[in-house]
Amino acid sequence: MTKKDLTSREDIQRLVETFYGRVRRDDRLGPIFNDVAAVDWDKHIPLLVDFWSTIVFSKPAYKGNPMQVHIDLNKKTPLNGDLFEH
Ligand code: HEM
Repeated sequence: MTKKDLTSREDIQRLVETFYGRVRRDDRLGPIFNDVAAVDWDKHIPLLVDFWSTIVFSKPAYKGNPMQVHIDLNKKTPLNGDLFEH
């Protein structure tokens, strides 16, 4: 899949749902989302769809500070390069 395959918000929605469907079942990433951050997925998925829509379509939908969110999260559990690679 390339950026050209993403033409609508629905495409982003499908991609984000598939990706995070795997993340939440992943042995290493799942517990960070489900236990450490205790993410409410019904709120988190639309937020991420907004985030990626903002980037892919250059249309402002997401307002937030993802860097700060991950800096705070990193204090609770280390988010190292190996985890990003994974
Ligand atoms: C190992 C890598 C990563 C882990 C474990 C991780 C984990 C998380 C978790 C647990 C949250 C929810 C935090 C909370 O609500 O308290 C979050 C939020 C978010 N993450 Fe990540 N993340 C990773 C990498 C990334 C990357 C590479 C991106 C995008 C380039 C990204 C984009 C976002 C965004 C946009 C949010 C929402 C921020 C907000 O609340 O406004 N994350 N992440």
